[in-house]
Amino acid sequence: MDIAIVGSGYVGLVTGVCLAHIGHNVVCCDNNKEKIKVLLAGGMPIYEPGLDALLLKYRKAGRITFTSSIAEAAQKATVIFIAVGTPSKKNGDADLTYIENVAREVAQNMDSYKLLVEKSTVPAMTGDRIARTIRLNLPAKYKPGSKNALEFDVASNPEFLREGSAVEDFMDPDRIVIGVESKRAEQLLREIYKPLKATIVVTNLATAEMIKHASNSFLATKISFINSVSQICERVGADVEKVAEGMGYDKRIGRAFLNAGIGYGGSCFPKDVDAFVRLAEKSGYDFKILKSVREVNEDQKSWFTRHIEDKLWIVKDKVIAVWGLAFKPDTDDMRSAAALTIIEALQDEGARIQVYDPQAMPNAKKLLKGVKFCADPYAAAKGADCLLLITEWAEFKKADFAKTRDLMRQAVVFDGRNFLDAKRLRELGYEYHGIGRGGNA
Ligand code: UDX
Ligand code: UDX
Repeated sequence: MDIAIVGSGYVGLVTGVCLAHIGHNVVCCDNNKEKIKVLLAGGMPIYEPGLDALLLKYRKAGRITFTSSIAEAAQKATVIFIAVGTPSKKNGDADLTYIENVAREVAQNMDSYKLLVEKSTVPAMTGDRIARTIRLNLPAKYKPGSKNALEFDVASNPEFLREGSAVEDFMDPDRIVIGVESKRAEQLLREIYKPLKATIVVTNLATAEMIKHASNSFLATKISFINSVSQICERVGADVEKVAEGMGYDKRIGRAFLNAGIGYGGSCFPKDVDAFVRLAEKSGYDFKILKSVREVNEDQKSWFTRHIEDKLWIVKDKVIAVWGLAFKPDTDDMRSAAALTIIEALQDEGARIQVYDPQAMPNAKKLLKGVKFCADPYAAAKGADCLLLITEWAEFKKADFAKTRDLMRQAVVFDGRNFLDAKRLRELGYEYHGIGRGGNA
């Protein structure tokens, strides 16, 4: 099928390339002309493992093209995915300005049936507003009630892509959720995803929108739950890693997303939790549990910073090495990365920060001031009074810790993801601090 994707960011680009991969013809659109220029030249505006090879293959095959014009992208396509940003407003609401812009521009250029599909994470009831925007902006000759009134549908097809594994999450999904209000919309989406042979959950529009917010918020809840447990472990001498292992064997709980650390970041959890709390408030419900999830996540980062200050004794003028900046490994994405909050708090105490991240430094340079960007982990460790493991990139596990120790002024490590081998580090003479290890690691 001919498919258009409006918004070619982390989600839109992966969706477009993977739809081409399963046999469709895709036009990816974006209003960031620089991004389109990079894509047209065969470049990659984001880091996502495996995406570059697929992008090259389908560009060459003419199955994916790029434009900054919505009209052009929507012209041939019957199905138009909306994957533009839905950033948080100050009060936590999702900012749906870009969603409305796209709906209006598609409507103004419509001359045949279109199915608009929400790929971006949006609060429940957004689909109705998109439908209303289209009705109000159709060309007069096609307006409802006129002789040539145009039919259209709006559907919700939320993404469950994790950055760093987005291609495999698309190609091998646990489920595909489609929220539809007509048989025609359902048939079109079933046809699009037929090659994936995945479980398809069919609901109405609002329910599909709700599944997305509820899923992300539940995952965030698991993380804040285990982070709260880690705080108690710190105080009673239990090992949170073993607690998570013991819990995880219960199929009703599951081991995944029970990794204690410095909390969740990224472009989804913080934004979706805020939006879900606001949606609840606006519908007259106080989402207490989710407010606590958010609070615990912030507390975990401030606790980590206080913990470092407490162990370092004097922070002023101390040199602190930071390994990892991205909000998680295998991505260059710095949105709501824990590193940003932690580094800023330590700088406020007068620490001097030296950082290294395998992929995220170009993005980090736009966000971090007054830090030394180093070419490799050892340069970051040089002369440092302590080392913070902030993002659990695989390469840090394989680092030469004897060499690192000899480069540092004092061998103290704070492992923000309980990622490093505490026993081996202690044998090498490090003072090792994990999170919630109760001295057991
Ligand atoms: C975005 C939303 O942030 C997320 O909530 C949703 O789940 C999926 O879409 P992401 O792809 O990570 O996630 O955002 P981003 O990488 O910022 O991509 C959004 C793209 O839309 C950007 O490339 C931006 O240039 C583009 N855009 C934005 C448009 O093309 N038109 C607009 O009007 C606004
Ligand atoms: C998430 C959801 O997993 C995905 O389904 C949705 O479509 C988009 O949001 P993403 O944000 O890319 O994906 O990364 P994810 O792997 O979920 O991690 C999110 C954050 O939680 C990261 O900051 C990570 O460090 C943190 N995390 C994750 C933990 O702190 N502990 C865990 O056990 C798991």
